[in-house]
Amino acid sequence: MCGIIGIASNKPVSSNIIQSLKRLEYRGYDSAGIATIGNGEIYEKKCIGRVDNLEKVLFKNPSKGILGIGHVRWATHGVPSQVNAHPHSSEQVSVVHNGIIENSNDLKKDLENKGYKFKSQTDTEVITFLLTDLLKDFDILNAIHKTLEKLHGSFALGIIFKKFNNIVVGARRGSPLAVGYGHEENYLGSDSYALKSMTNKITYLDDGDICVLSNNKVEFYNSKNIKINKEVLTLSDDKHITDKGDHKDFMSKEINEQHVTAQTCIKEYVDQLRQDINLYHFPIEPKDITKIILIGCGTAYHACVTAKYWFEELTNIPVEIDIASEFRYRKLKFDNKNLYVFVSQSGETADTYAALDLCKKNNVKTCAIVNVVESSIARTSDFVLPIHAGPEIGVASTKAFIGQMLVLYLLVLKMSEVRKEISQTDYVNKISELKKLPSLIKDVLKCQDQVQVIAKDFLKAKGAMFLGRGLSFPIALEGALKLKELSYLHAEGYPAGEMKHGPLALIEEGLPVVVLAPKDKYFEKTISNMQEVIARGGKVILITNESTNIISENVRFTLEIPKTDDYLTPFLMTIPLQLLAYHVASLKNCDIDKPRNLAKSVTVE
Ligand code: F6R
Repeated sequence: MCGIIGIASNKPVSSNIIQSLKRLEYRGYDSAGIATIGNGEIYEKKCIGRVDNLEKVLFKNPSKGILGIGHVRWATHGVPSQVNAHPHSSEQVSVVHNGIIENSNDLKKDLENKGYKFKSQTDTEVITFLLTDLLKDFDILNAIHKTLEKLHGSFALGIIFKKFNNIVVGARRGSPLAVGYGHEENYLGSDSYALKSMTNKITYLDDGDICVLSNNKVEFYNSKNIKINKEVLTLSDDKHITDKGDHKDFMSKEINEQHVTAQTCIKEYVDQLRQDINLYHFPIEPKDITKIILIGCGTAYHACVTAKYWFEELTNIPVEIDIASEFRYRKLKFDNKNLYVFVSQSGETADTYAALDLCKKNNVKTCAIVNVVESSIARTSDFVLPIHAGPEIGVASTKAFIGQMLVLYLLVLKMSEVRKEISQTDYVNKISELKKLPSLIKDVLKCQDQVQVIAKDFLKAKGAMFLGRGLSFPIALEGALKLKELSYLHAEGYPAGEMKHGPLALIEEGLPVVVLAPKDKYFEKTISNMQEVIARGGKVILITNESTNIISENVRFTLEIPKTDDYLTPFLMTIPLQLLAYHVASLKNCDIDKPRNLAKSVTVE
């Protein structure tokens, strides 16, 4: 995937642009370039391959300039080559571009008729010449607007001008773009990771927005060329790693910030105006994918199990799930029409990495869903989808699980849309429901006091069971895993319908059994399974979004979560289970952030 950086400063910028481009390396790219303005000239340097190569070029022949743009390119129009690398410059302007200009051939013909000579095979160069042409007759803002009006397709742009040598301009339609605010300098970036090394104050552009950055000012204009104000957000940056805020431990902080995790992730991927998901350049054309294989360990594996249900419900793609430590040693039939998706918070888990390596050796296409974008798994995969959860310090994965599920859900929706397996109306409705998720998570987080009371019941228990069907089954697995790793209490997660085939024998007087029963197509069946547990003395903790229709006199506790789209319920179900594990462990005085025998990043087999 391509990446953009822009800096407007009062000191030389080229080395900062290079460092920021390095932060975009996780995206996968084939060439890199930079353009700066100095001494009234545009200095453009580009090369094929890594940003390191570009750095060497600049080392030998430095670029002057206190403002500039940089780019890493993942070829779409035109082969990977130096000439096709961005920026694309004329005498007057230099442009970097993410996205695809669909009408570039027609625009190119018009511009060639006017005498413009194209050097590259890219769609981007038409933007350079269109703007150069319009600048002859219009002021800068009107020239930009008129240029954008002529473009069909998607773009995030970074532009510098020879004549206006104190500004960097950004524009967005369809592809993400953000502005960062620094001390006597301001930044443009295609994602917040690229900007994070320089600032934690950012503004995301919406579709149609244009931004004009100088070293001491940022202005925004909407698609009607009207000046607008935009919200400045504070990213939870790496400085907060050692800061628990008002929380007793990191896990509590991480559980309680999950609405922010969801909000950030949605902002990164969901186009706010167009009701669309910004996911492009899949390593295999979605229509050609014959199977998806989802691979992970522990909690990440549970996110894969959840995604299997979504893929099956919303697409026609067959799906397999695999635990990485099993996948890596099996006798597998690799197929280059399959997409292998690796899910990992750390991006360093040895088994997951080994499974990925096996795929690479078998020349199949891979996708990584990770939190740490600089990680080995991200760097090795063909396609990377960051979960944008920010650093997770508590050993038990919480907000990363929400982030993993969220990105997987976005991937499912987008694949379904591209393959025309979901109607446009359903797609748009699902996106608007998704936008409500952060505030619903915030509501569920209010159940802390109730969960604290429920947790007391687990203190004398020999163990516990977590039951669910359909999308609640993986969440039952996750609830059991959280409880065992944090409180050292034996816990089993089971599909509720499987109880009669053995586990029912475990039910005895007083055994805590958490039943996940949202009002979905499994509701009545799960409630019957719950009655079977009650009849044998199980102490049921029911989590549901439909308590009114349940005869619940024998249910010990009922915890009600808000109603939402059935596909989003797993996110809300997860929260009380994390809190339950947290409070049981806390009452037992366990080391919450560092449970015994466990490590945050499992880099050994
Ligand atoms: C459980 C937990 C682990 C990890 C697993 C994979 O709370 O944190 O089960 O999910 O070790 O780690 P990553 O996601 O870093 O690959």
